[in-house]
Amino acid sequence: CRVVVLISGNGSNLQAMLDLADKPYDIVAVLSNKDGVYGLQRAADAGVSTHVIPHTQYPDRETFDQAMIQVIDQYQPDLIVLAGFMRILSSAFVQHYQGRLINIHPSLLPKYKGTKTHQRALEAGDKEHGVSVHFVTEELDGGPVVRQAVVDILPGDDADTLAARVAGEEHKIYPEVVSWFALKRLKLSDSGVLLDGTPL
Ligand code: GRF
Repeated sequence: CRVVVLISGNGSNLQAMLDLADKPYDIVAVLSNKDGVYGLQRAADAGVSTHVIPHTQYPDRETFDQAMIQVIDQYQPDLIVLAGFMRILSSAFVQHYQGRLINIHPSLLPKYKGTKTHQRALEAGDKEHGVSVHFVTEELDGGPVVRQAVVDILPGDDADTLAARVAGEEHKIYPEVVSWFALKRLKLSDSGVLLDGTPL
């Protein structure tokens, strides 16, 4: 299974995918919309091809997305993984990769779509928080959820301590979900997500 990963920053989820033992997938390329980010170094250190496509150099989202599609499709990927990629994608991009585009979002969706999820969970007085992996559809952070992990919110937590605890779960579940897809256990059907042929 040929996987292309899109990042904008640190790339700790990319690292977790690179580090999984006996992984049933190959990360064939990493794209970033930002130059100089640590995730690019992680990819290079692992011998993975990298591309920087600065969104600021394109007149609009559609043109930027078409430039990404051109690069991504050279790798003939089976799966596109968004791992801390901080750009909203156009309908054309999402449709082009329909059923083979997944994202990780640091909340228990459908709660807290968008940004600052950890702070919002704390301010709401939630007892639990977590992370979701989902197929990407045209609704931002709204595609069908594949897997979630829950963490307790502890007394004294701030957004940073909570984010760190959530990240620990991200690094466990995201490589596993990519493995499910690679092993053809995971599919997006008209009726929703199927794992081993069973609706989730
Ligand atoms: C993660 O918290 C992920 O949930 C969110 O962006 C962050 C990416 O972290 N979408 P990293 O770049 O993988 O370290």
